[in-house]
Amino acid sequence: MRLLAIETSCDETAVALVSKQNGVESSLVASQIHLHRPFGGVVPEVACRAHQEWLPRLVREVLDETGTTPDAIDGIAVTRGPGLVGALLVGLSFARGLAWGWKKPWVGINHLESHLASLDLADPPFHPPYVALLASGGHTDFFHVSREWDIRFLGGTLDDAAGEAFDKVAHLLELGYPGGPVIEKAAGAHSGAIHEFPRPMQGHPGCNISFSGLKTAVAIALEKEAGRNRNGRTAFWAASFQQCVVLALVKKLEAAAEMARCSRVAIVGGVAANRLLRDAVTNLAERNGWEVGIAPLKYCGDNAAMVGAAAFRCLERQGWSPSDLDADPRLFLGEDE
Ligand code: KG4
Ligand code: ZN
Repeated sequence: MRLLAIETSCDETAVALVSKQNGVESSLVASQIHLHRPFGGVVPEVACRAHQEWLPRLVREVLDETGTTPDAIDGIAVTRGPGLVGALLVGLSFARGLAWGWKKPWVGINHLESHLASLDLADPPFHPPYVALLASGGHTDFFHVSREWDIRFLGGTLDDAAGEAFDKVAHLLELGYPGGPVIEKAAGAHSGAIHEFPRPMQGHPGCNISFSGLKTAVAIALEKEAGRNRNGRTAFWAASFQQCVVLALVKKLEAAAEMARCSRVAIVGGVAANRLLRDAVTNLAERNGWEVGIAPLKYCGDNAAMVGAAAFRCLERQGWSPSDLDADPRLFLGEDE
């Protein structure tokens, strides 16, 4: 089976061709970062317009690059939520048009499930059961995924997502946008002691987490330093913040695994690209004798290959979606509604 997969939930326009036999045949991502950077965050209207412009081009490019014609495609997989409503609607309407024109079935995919399925694209693949931390710009969630792909939400952020905290602290440090990569880079220039920020939700049982206290602590620390020359201290603060977030996330992943009595842990999502986090999770697993799965670097951020991988999982369980499938910007995963 071969699927054309489409992802437009936020600020990346992505199209992929994924086959059950050959894996990812093509995966293209058009990043809109340069369009949103002047605003310091994603502007929904700008994202929608860029998705509209890029989707037809990327589909053409994927087909040309792989020498594929529509008759060699069995169906279309498209993200239906959660995400920005306008951005989701652009992707869904486009997919609906293609499905109609090509006379193919389609399947709507939960974006969070796609991030989990990025582990199927690891080499070697990391298949469930596992407890995964999904850390991205919009989410910091812990899930248990069973061998049969039953997904249970275990806990998550009570306020900002981890990626959002990176973005906001990068703004405070005047490092630019998006925050994750620039903080990681700045922190890399620091060696030696760091400032110990209070660890978020330490001592609280379970795996819920909150980043608002840490963000405030960073803002206060920087405020105290204002007036003095902060030159050369940016790397110090970036490293201190990054270390605190990573240790907090890893501690909560450990708690989540213990809650679910599961000895296989994983990380996925944009923040999983962070080297310190990748190393810390590997160490956690080594310490406990657990198995560890880490999303491939190229499939941490939003992409369509993981949408195709999730579609294979969903098709086995639920089959194709009805033709009147709608976008759901607040789609949940693994929670009783
Ligand atoms: O998964 P993703 O591409 O989009 C969402 O679904 O939100 O995640 C984007 C988030 C941004 O907040 C970005 O700052 C963060 O992932 N991120 C990182 C790194 N690369 C991206 N955070 C920490 N370290 C990184 N290297
Ligand atoms: Zn995402």
